[in-house]
Amino acid sequence: MFQNDLFKGKKILVTGGGTGLGKSMTERFLELGAEVAICGRRKAVLEEAAAELTAKTGGTVTAWPLDIRVAEAVEETIGAIWAQGPLDALVNNAAGNFISRTEDLSPRAFDAIANIVLHGSFYVTTACGRRWLKEGRKGNILSIVTTWVRNGSPYVVPSAMAKAGLAAMTRSLAVEWGPKGIRVNAIAPGPFPTEGAWARLSPKPELAERPLESIPMRRVGRHEELADLAVYLLADQSEYLTGEIIAIDGGQALNNAGSFGRLSALSDQDWAEIRETIKTVNAKDKAMRTV
Ligand code: HXC
Repeated sequence: MFQNDLFKGKKILVTGGGTGLGKSMTERFLELGAEVAICGRRKAVLEEAAAELTAKTGGTVTAWPLDIRVAEAVEETIGAIWAQGPLDALVNNAAGNFISRTEDLSPRAFDAIANIVLHGSFYVTTACGRRWLKEGRKGNILSIVTTWVRNGSPYVVPSAMAKAGLAAMTRSLAVEWGPKGIRVNAIAPGPFPTEGAWARLSPKPELAERPLESIPMRRVGRHEELADLAVYLLADQSEYLTGEIIAIDGGQALNNAGSFGRLSALSDQDWAEIRETIKTVNAKDKAMRTV
């Protein structure tokens, strides 16, 4: 989809880049010539991912153990990354989530999610943003949210609240920092299977067999599809695109938004019968009007 050297000379930070979608995006950025810094809480996982992706792509990836919930640690790590050369882009990918009835959540449970998704992303974003502004350098911020930022979602309320905050940050900073050459966008993925999310969002086997009928494209997402959208949003060629939240969910969120999405299960015969029934209703109506 893209020319091989699209990201040559670019340096990108991916939070949570050692696993899941963060790792998939990192791999794609490396393939396209970027230097990628990945951060995450588990040093061994990060280093293993960095070694694997270096071997696979021949690219340059550096591992930075970091808990983005700790503002001072964020400032220190971003400073250390910058000391080796400025970043061109940031991907706010690190997240935490699990399903629970909301009334069962303790304050600490809420904080466990909000401190990563909302607070942590703010710390990293401002640590990079301040540097770009100070140096008069262009920057690009991409956050991974969910389609729930539009309508909310039951049983994942702390995540929906925190990601909605990240969506608000996206739109706000696009305006505030746009004149300084900093773009801010977000991707709202639907179901893209990852070990971390699936274990926490579909912990029972029967829940794991997700009803594909709710997805108009009748399948879950492929990591490379999301990674390519991230590439497009980070590329210089999409410079006029900012402040947007783009869903990539096979149409799932829109399907649930209308009243008739479930009708896609009807057969040709069902539709023929429905047509006849409605025609009968129309004919009766018409007959009454002409009396
Ligand atoms: C109720 C729970 C709970 C559960 C934890 N808690 N799990 N409460 N139901 N299932 C409570 C604990 O009891 C504790 O509160 C508090 O939360 C903190 O728990 P810790 O385990 O100490 O938290 P911590 O070590 O900080 O771990 C954070 C975490 C963890 C979010 C809970 O799962 C994590 O680090 N996850 C990162 C990876 C991840 O979640 N990936 C999925 C992302 S998917 P008390 O009061 O008892 O002390 C995503 C969106 C996907 O973001 C969208 C798909 C469409």
